[in-house]
Amino acid sequence: MRKDNVKIEANIWQKVPGTNFIEFFPIIAKPSIVSSNCYILAAPEAILIIDPGASPQQTKHISETVSAALAASDRPVLVFLTHCHQDHSQEAGLFELPAGTEIKRFAHEAGAEALERGDRKLTVAYLYPWRPVVCRAPFDCRLFASIKEEPKVVTFELTQCRRIELHSEPISMPSGAVLKRQWLPLGAGERLEIYHTPGHSPCSISLRVGSLLMLGDLPFAANPGLCGLDGWNHADLLQTLRKVDWLLEKPGITVCCPGHGYCVSAESMREKLRLMEDEARNLTDVQLMNAERIGALKSYVDELLEETAALFTILSGRLYTVSYYLSLLEEDNAANRVLATLDIDQIDRILSEFRRFVEAFNASAVPELTVVLKGVQVARSLQQLLSEERIKQIFDLSLVGRAQRRLADFLGMVRGLQFLNAETPSAVNELIAQILVRARSAHVRESTDLMEAVEDEQSFLDALTRRLAAHSLLREIEFEFAPDAQPTNANVGAERLDDILTDLIEGMAGIGVKHIRIVTEVSPGRVAIRLSSRERIDPAAFGEGRFDLYSRTLGWLGGGFECRQQDGNAEFIIRLPALESV
Ligand SMILES: [Fe+2]
Repeated sequence: MRKDNVKIEANIWQKVPGTNFIEFFPIIAKPSIVSSNCYILAAPEAILIIDPGASPQQTKHISETVSAALAASDRPVLVFLTHCHQDHSQEAGLFELPAGTEIKRFAHEAGAEALERGDRKLTVAYLYPWRPVVCRAPFDCRLFASIKEEPKVVTFELTQCRRIELHSEPISMPSGAVLKRQWLPLGAGERLEIYHTPGHSPCSISLRVGSLLMLGDLPFAANPGLCGLDGWNHADLLQTLRKVDWLLEKPGITVCCPGHGYCVSAESMREKLRLMEDEARNLTDVQLMNAERIGALKSYVDELLEETAALFTILSGRLYTVSYYLSLLEEDNAANRVLATLDIDQIDRILSEFRRFVEAFNASAVPELTVVLKGVQVARSLQQLLSEERIKQIFDLSLVGRAQRRLADFLGMVRGLQFLNAETPSAVNELIAQILVRARSAHVRESTDLMEAVEDEQSFLDALTRRLAAHSLLREIEFEFAPDAQPTNANVGAERLDDILTDLIEGMAGIGVKHIRIVTEVSPGRVAIRLSSRERIDPAAFGEGRFDLYSRTLGWLGGGFECRQQDGNAEFIIRLPALESV
């Protein structure tokens, strides 16, 4: 049995598990895409610095720590990059070490070449608005160099007749796959093993010393916002995950050290990577992440925040209504249970923390990708809250489904997946008719529900709760529908169009509209839906983000959204691509 409760402390020297003579000084940075963790290892014949990072403050810390170790015993300093990304590599040439210290820098051949040519894409330096300088320090020890006859041992000569011997010994796995491996001796029988683990980047490597495995950014390679970055490769990632799983299955590795965040046990990491493999399997058609897409996603994050806040306001408003009526009926326990269903305070906290984060972003120079990644975190927390069984028992599923689809769309877009392909065409007239029927029949259906449950007190309370929670603003609206007589088949999924229309109609109801006229119009290649009202509509009351979100979503589907203002009133037009007849 391996030990699961791993205790690796940051900023102190400690023995590397599974070795006799190697010490380890982890510098665990606050997780961000700006700078990575750095791991310093002191071995009998060398000091290793793995991933210097991109923070001058961290570089100072590294320089002081390594200088102190060198004062105890002079050794060459070997710098390794788990991959060439800016947040890991930037400071690799900027240490201040005692005069005469010999430094050798190692990176995978593809990473060393990217740094040499100052490649801002493969190093993802373009992500940072302050235009950082790509590390130009020489990486003359190239790992896994693509030479035809790969020699078993490559020797790098050092001063004072010292040398480093880099051995190439690929591992044949039982599956028939080959794990590219190199290793070099660290003195007193200790060694550093290096595995080629591409996927996050073609130059990604993992490093093993004793029972420690340093994985760089492999654990984050399927994360929305990080998959699809330049150099990311789906097939490589899946192969790497299987290879690393095999490594972790064998006895020996007990602790995994990621490029960002805390070190975890090998078991936990294996579990995480397995979950990631499940997620990664579907990421076949991922769009490349680039500056333009990141900029667009940042706007999407802002819109998502506004829209999500609006949806959760509806959800929490309904909860309070239910709880209020239950209290009036002196059903205090049931009322409290309802309020506990959705942790409204927590949602408020998540959303306002995110809002503050975005405001701070707008006031300073933070990479846009950081906001996108934070948006991913928020969306995932909200997704988790919504997936709780209690929520499904209380709310009508269409509302919860709408919120879930919004969050899933966002995560999918960040990942670079296209939801367009998943759309199935729908007949717009029929869909609108269904929405209207739903709005009119809600009351009747719920009454029956309540009558059926009257025999049993608990079922009655449950049904009452559901009924109160389903209270829909649409019930009070008088609709007038003028459908075009021609077929209105559009290339848009029914659920998505339903979401947008319901959202828009609820929004209109929310600002006091009592009468809504809906007209459909078919023109060549287009189906249009126009919504208007006799009452005055002030578009400003909807919030700008909501319209932007409609525009963006419909734009992706080949349509559009327009708010047309005339004589102090407004009309909304949803344009959809007509389904081309085959
Ligand atoms: Fe990275």
